[in-house]
Amino acid sequence: MRIPFRDNLPASAITPEPLYRRRRDVLKLLGLGAVALGSGCSPEATPQAAAPAAPESIPGKSLTIARKLDTTMGETGTRYKDATHYNNFYEFGTGKSDPAANSGGFHPQPWNVEIAGHAEVTGHFTLEDILKPHPLEERIYRLRCVEAWSMVIPWVGFPLGDLLKRFKPTSQAKYVAFTTVQRPAEMPGLNYPVLNWPYREGLRMDEAMHPLTLLVVGMYGHALPNQNGAPLRLVVPWKYGFKGIKSIVKIEFTESQPTTTWNESAPDEYGFFSNVNPAVDHPRWSQKTERRIAGDGFNLFGNRIATKPFNGYADQVASLYAGMDMRKNF
Ligand code: MTE
Repeated sequence: MRIPFRDNLPASAITPEPLYRRRRDVLKLLGLGAVALGSGCSPEATPQAAAPAAPESIPGKSLTIARKLDTTMGETGTRYKDATHYNNFYEFGTGKSDPAANSGGFHPQPWNVEIAGHAEVTGHFTLEDILKPHPLEERIYRLRCVEAWSMVIPWVGFPLGDLLKRFKPTSQAKYVAFTTVQRPAEMPGLNYPVLNWPYREGLRMDEAMHPLTLLVVGMYGHALPNQNGAPLRLVVPWKYGFKGIKSIVKIEFTESQPTTTWNESAPDEYGFFSNVNPAVDHPRWSQKTERRIAGDGFNLFGNRIATKPFNGYADQVASLYAGMDMRKNF
């Protein structure tokens, strides 16, 4: 049996009231009560559920969630407020509160994604084209940041592999490279050369195709807020959080390992793989434990728990790295 998402607070305290009400309405339309929200795999969602009004809408999609999958084994969830106000999104500033404070002028719609590289189908696609065939799922995943804090977040999205297959990657496609949008007028952090913009990330093909790898359009039953990477981001739950590139505008199939922003900026500190590994310390701090930001009370020093190999997803993903030295390939 699956344990419902818990954050030790009534839902009305987590989500701003209008959003909370809309969420309740969406659930009602789906025939799912508040209780059903925490239940296991739910049946196919009702297609006539009302699409939430702007700015919450996801182009070409109603926020109906076809399937819920809990992979957190009943850990206490992170509050909506914390997950949306303690962020890393350097395009909006390097402080944890900067993304929420500075992303109000960012326009996640309309949105296009370029598909490039070694695939039979390439070109520019609208977000509607990208999302249309894919039923949305809710998945509760741990997010372990390389700075040794972590959250437990209910994401809304679908497996990245389902999208990639549509473009028919060729045998030369060994990696997938991702690029974030670059709009200095809307993203004040881009005016500072703290990183080599645009933000880029990459995965090996088998990692990208792994069913745990999620292309995310929402969280907590709502469209992604700007500070969390609207309208489209990646979540790779067994890797450090920085692999979860936000506001994606380009996906490219490559033959060689792509350059990634953090690896380029500090290769000794941030490897290409960046699988969560308590046995390999960051050069400046230990990765053995993490500060879990969850439940009631934002505790900067407490809630310290042991970090698990592959962030607790070893059973599902360790085989991808069989025979590899994880200390060398960090
Ligand atoms: N994507 C872009 N484009 N720019 C960023 O600065 N920060 C990364 C990742 N994706 C980042 C990004 C880091 S370091 C983390 S930990 C996660 O986003 C944080 O995601 P969250 O703010 O939704 O928790």
